[in-house]
Amino acid sequence: MQHARLKEFPKDFLWGASTSAYQVEGAWNTDGKGPSVIDMSNIVEGTTDFKVTSDHYHHYKEDIALLAEMGFKAYRFSIAWTRIFAKGTGEVNEKGIQFYNNLINELIKHNIEPIVTMYHFDLPYALQERGGWSNRETIDAFENYAKALFINFGDRVKYWLTINEQNMMILHGSVIGTLDKSLKNPEKELYKQNHHMMLAQAKAMKLCHAICPNGKIGPAPNISSVYPASSKPEDILAAMNYSSIRNWLYLDMAVYGRYNSIAWSYMEEKGYTPTIEKGDMEVLKNANPDFIAFNYYNTATVAHSENDDLNTVSTGDQQISDGKPGVYKSSSNPYLQKTEFGWEIDPVGFRNTLRELNDRYNLPLLLTENGLGAFDKLEEGDVINDDYRIDYLRKHIEQAKLAITDGVRLIGYCPWSAIDLVSTHQGCSKRYGFVYVNRDEFDLKDLRRIRKNSFYWYKQVISSNGEKL
Ligand code: BG6
Repeated sequence: MQHARLKEFPKDFLWGASTSAYQVEGAWNTDGKGPSVIDMSNIVEGTTDFKVTSDHYHHYKEDIALLAEMGFKAYRFSIAWTRIFAKGTGEVNEKGIQFYNNLINELIKHNIEPIVTMYHFDLPYALQERGGWSNRETIDAFENYAKALFINFGDRVKYWLTINEQNMMILHGSVIGTLDKSLKNPEKELYKQNHHMMLAQAKAMKLCHAICPNGKIGPAPNISSVYPASSKPEDILAAMNYSSIRNWLYLDMAVYGRYNSIAWSYMEEKGYTPTIEKGDMEVLKNANPDFIAFNYYNTATVAHSENDDLNTVSTGDQQISDGKPGVYKSSSNPYLQKTEFGWEIDPVGFRNTLRELNDRYNLPLLLTENGLGAFDKLEEGDVINDDYRIDYLRKHIEQAKLAITDGVRLIGYCPWSAIDLVSTHQGCSKRYGFVYVNRDEFDLKDLRRIRKNSFYWYKQVISSNGEKL
């Protein structure tokens, strides 16, 4: 739909950006922090330097000052569960509480709204050793952890996100580093883990409303529209299949407390259905998210698949996804360009996704990740010419504005990432930030912070409330 006049971004729009604890903080075993599953997985063979990441733990004041200089209204970060409870449960680590108190207070001092992700891939390793999400005790551990967060930070944190990209942990856990490699029947086990994470999330949402009078809480999956490769009816069915397994399984449960029927029939067909214990569905139904936070990088395109299909085509999806025989197979989209890391770029798909979410759930939406990973180059005079990133972000913000004009209730835009950090599986050289962190893959250098061109551009976007793009 073309609009003669576009609506403005709301006055209190949450302009900001995002990071996650294990990707930015470093200090992975400092001040009583315990190891997480990510700390224990070998992301970069032969070095532990990746664990220093951007050393935000020791640079947080300087980093927040830079975000304030850009005019950030909000900053989305995650709390490392193992900083609060080294082993996932037990005694609270006061030094961990102190770190996040300092961080939150520093943000508030600069009028930046803290948006907290409670769990971003970094499950405590001690819990993993006891079965991780396969063990129902992890649900209780998460509820206990959530309670500690709400009690300690709920007086200042209004926006809470439960679990980052639960759907990607289920679909692509081996790439992210969250998959327990000892699982015998991984897919079946993963859908059991998914059920337990859903319960943990539901309990945390209920608790948030009980403990934090002004608290708002929502899920934070990775959501993207799924396109059929052609108008062939079988391709349309394949797109519905994939969207149900990738998107709606997670959000139908978070919002309506029910299993998506297509996703459920897929699990039945494959023998993956989880055991639902007495009382589970009641817990799931009684959780009411206040908004949906979601990460969007690109769309997916899929085609019909016969049972004997070999699905080897890669998509520009979060990770290489090759399809499921008899359900869908991935296809590339000839209308889209790709980043240098092979991810398809689809700003219009962002508008599609926003519209779909709005129609389906009728809740406020918060964009918590969107961005372009690239090999930025530090040039003489501390210049980083990342015009490709500006172009990417500009096009997505334009589509956000169109979606708002379409009637979507978008309350904020927090792209990935506020400053450079370590990618989930492609090292430090794949950069996303507005601020360059001076380090290489294997050389920590001086970790100096340097403003990229996109830094100055985003500053002007925020000060004009999205008018000057
Ligand atoms: C999201 C994750 O999936 O994508 C982030 O929530 C991640 O943790 C981001 O960093 C970009 O992916 P990658 O693999 O390029 O780091």
